Amino acid sequence: MMKAWVPDPDSPARIRLEEVAKPRIAADEVLVRVAAYSINRGETFLLEAPPPDWRPGKDVSGRVVAVGRDVRDLEPGQRVVAHPDQAGWAEWVAVKAERAVTLPDGLDDRTAAALPLAGLTALRLTRATGPLASRRVLLTGASGGVGHAFVQLAAAHGARITAVAADDERGQRLRELGAIETIPSVEDARGPFEIALESTGGRALAAAWERLAPEGRLVWFGQASRTPATLDFFNWKGGLSGTLRKFHYLDDPTPVAIDLDTLVRLVAQQRLHVEVGLSADWQDTPAAIEALLGRRARGNVVLAVGT
Ligand SMILES: NC(=O)c1ccc[n+]([C@@H]2O[C@H](COP(=O)([O-])OP(=O)(O)OC[C@H]3O[C@@H](n4cnc5c(N)ncnc54)[C@H](OP(=O)(O)O)[C@@H]3O)[C@@H](O)[C@H]2O)c1
Repeated sequence: MMKAWVPDPDSPARIRLEEVAKPRIAADEVLVRVAAYSINRGETFLLEAPPPDWRPGKDVSGRVVAVGRDVRDLEPGQRVVAHPDQAGWAEWVAVKAERAVTLPDGLDDRTAAALPLAGLTALRLTRATGPLASRRVLLTGASGGVGHAFVQLAAAHGARITAVAADDERGQRLRELGAIETIPSVEDARGPFEIALESTGGRALAAAWERLAPEGRLVWFGQASRTPATLDFFNWKGGLSGTLRKFHYLDDPTPVAIDLDTLVRLVAQQRLHVEVGLSADWQDTPAAIEALLGRRARGNVVLAVGT
């Protein structure tokens, strides 16, 4: 048996710590003793209506303790970062070997745990946008894990990024990491932008579209506010020639391990900084969820297991 967070609709953060069976691994999986995990907004949405037999946890770091009989590239004792489909907010998790990569000694568990979902999304967004060199880019919801990583990756390509963050302290950090300017609301953006990335919902999608250059591309990748995006035909100020592309990070055909390994190398070489804005013991997971949902957490939210 082991301890794991399970959905609980009656708790304020919709989870409770419970004794569950320790996972068994399939032939293509490894068993990881979890050292740290990060929490993501999408998982908090799933906690509102959890699928049967689902437990949260897509981002983990830790040590391999057993490997399935078909696994060739990993062995017990290795430190890894991994991206399981679920159940990583626990002491142990089973992960497909193709979703785990080894970690260099200098990369600590908390930093590594913040990498998978946010890092993969940011990296893959730089493909979805098309070439970024000298492009004017508008990024909403920039002060989360995805935003901090995207700003650095896109700035390294030479993008001219305008990032939306609620206050100037958050903006200051995003400017240090490569944004050219930061603004408190998408309505404050001047434009036009060749590329816009929107993930907050409500009016923000239309406001971003209105600031798109002719032939520009808007990448729509989330709805943090839960408020559906609105477009008003009779009060439309935007151009008509742009492209709207809905994005999901797993639609990118690149193997997860390839991109995860790229992220690990960039961090190890200090060319990508992981902005862990909230780090706590895993017993504090409910408070961490509430901080994330209350917009009090900045960057990645990471919990260390068993410290
Ligand atoms: N499509 C995909 O494949 C994919 C993958 C991963 C994540 N996502 C989505 O990408 C977005 C960013 O994810 P994340 O993990 O980086 O960060 P996040 O913490 O979910 O949100 C990023 C920022 O959005 C702002 N925000 C939060 N609630 C808001 C609201 N009600 N209205 C306006 N702004 C709000 C906050 O910044 P301020 O308070 O500073 O404004 C927050 O720091 C999320 O919507 C997430 O669900 C999509």
